[in-house]
Amino acid sequence: MASSLDALSALCKRRGFIYHSSEIYGGMPGFWDYGPLGCELKQNVKQAWWQFTVRGREDVAGLDATIIMHPKIWKASGHLDTFADPMTMCKQCKKLMRADQIDDIRAELGKKAAAVNPAFALSCPHCGGEMTEPKPFNLMFKTVVGPIDDPSNVAYLRPETAQAIFAQFQNVTATSRMAVPYGIAQMGKSFRNEVTPRNYTFRSREFEQMELEFFIRPDEAVEILHGHVVTLADNPDLNGPVQDDWGWEVWHKYWVEQRKKFLNAVGLPTEHFVEYWQKPDELAHYARACVDIEYDFPFGRQELEGIAARSDFDLSQHQKWSGESQMVFDDPLKQAAKKMDDAARAAFVEKTQKAWAERAAATGKDAVAAVAAAEKFCQNLFDGKYVPHVIEPSAGVDRLMLALLCEAYEEQKLTDEKGKEDIRTVLHFSPKVAPVKVAIFPLIKKDPDQDRIARDIFRKLQKKVNCQWDVSGAIGRRYRRQDEAGTPWCITVDAQTVADGTFTVRERDSMEQKRMTYGEFLAMMYDALEF
Ligand code: GLY
Repeated sequence: MASSLDALSALCKRRGFIYHSSEIYGGMPGFWDYGPLGCELKQNVKQAWWQFTVRGREDVAGLDATIIMHPKIWKASGHLDTFADPMTMCKQCKKLMRADQIDDIRAELGKKAAAVNPAFALSCPHCGGEMTEPKPFNLMFKTVVGPIDDPSNVAYLRPETAQAIFAQFQNVTATSRMAVPYGIAQMGKSFRNEVTPRNYTFRSREFEQMELEFFIRPDEAVEILHGHVVTLADNPDLNGPVQDDWGWEVWHKYWVEQRKKFLNAVGLPTEHFVEYWQKPDELAHYARACVDIEYDFPFGRQELEGIAARSDFDLSQHQKWSGESQMVFDDPLKQAAKKMDDAARAAFVEKTQKAWAERAAATGKDAVAAVAAAEKFCQNLFDGKYVPHVIEPSAGVDRLMLALLCEAYEEQKLTDEKGKEDIRTVLHFSPKVAPVKVAIFPLIKKDPDQDRIARDIFRKLQKKVNCQWDVSGAIGRRYRRQDEAGTPWCITVDAQTVADGTFTVRERDSMEQKRMTYGEFLAMMYDALEF
């Protein structure tokens, strides 16, 4: 595991994982490019997520929406009004900072930090000067659509992929032949104009997200359908098939467990991350629960991804701002409601009104309005209609890549048979995400038979996975080059290959070599790559 970013970032630059964007012009803070190995790692991380979240399931459909969308989307989502960081500037050295990061910056500067000046409410960690009163700074990048640079043409680069999923919810529902409970997933670029991008690729201004909005029935609908709602107190089996009588709490925990399984599969063991359940006072006003999966990066413990139970907030907001209904029609619910007699319906309405009034009172909202809303909500349920609730597992591609790089990095001290010490730098990637899966070498490059057979194997494997060909230098050096790239297997073709077709497969982590046939190697490789 990398203990500092210095050695890791040096390897990433040297081996072509990560470069500064626009480096020949001095770079751009908060923008990073992925080189030949980095872009392969990224593709693999995204492909793994898509396989695990979409293709490997029956109840999730995909979406690929535009980055620039109707600006009203950001009004409805709340990003226009509230997606802001508190920005402050030093009156003396003019440096801009996030007011809530001043202590962190002071800690990072260590001995180089200026002493705190008690005369100021905020004093600059760089020079000790007085900082301005913090002002909210909206993180969305603005642009103009069309040829006229006018405020009426202002649009925004999306700060999250999630909102397109809500905005296209009715289209996907109508065309995917799926019904709630089901999810819509999207991967893609998002943009946030961070005041101070920090920590290598962790907090970038241009980044990529992998988000799932999993739509579920409101608990009240589950109750009408099943006569009960399964909660966590019922100790449901979260490893088996999903169940129709689960309430939101169970769906939320189910997705936390799914995300943990995914992280394990791509190379982060459970004991290396922390599952942090946000406290009630930390939750966004619409959220019922939120779990942060946190990872111990060399610069401290930081959020890798979040799994939030967001109630029906998002779709209800879009219903309100677009004027378009975001309800679904749930026939099994309507049929179940039909079986209730008038007394059962009245009791159901009364119970729902009481629960909603209590929730409103507890959160400082209007209890009378809640009672009226509950009545309308129940009448819609009896007709089989509701605005779905949502569970949102939201992950950052770049942060996950950085965590996988940190996790994989090792400088191993080796001693050979003659007692000579050596350092082997190795990236222990899971084969599922490793940028190069197989490297192929003829042992003796000038041997025409070895070269021909090795090239033949290389060409065949190239059609299946990302491979590298290497004939330069001693075999030990070729292995080390692949260790730094994190390649799990190296195939060496030698004299015996010419005689019997078997070749040696050198395994990266154990450094053990085994003789295999091509068929045996393929079976072993596919086994390791499968989800
Ligand atoms: N959609 C949640 C996020 O972007 O953080």
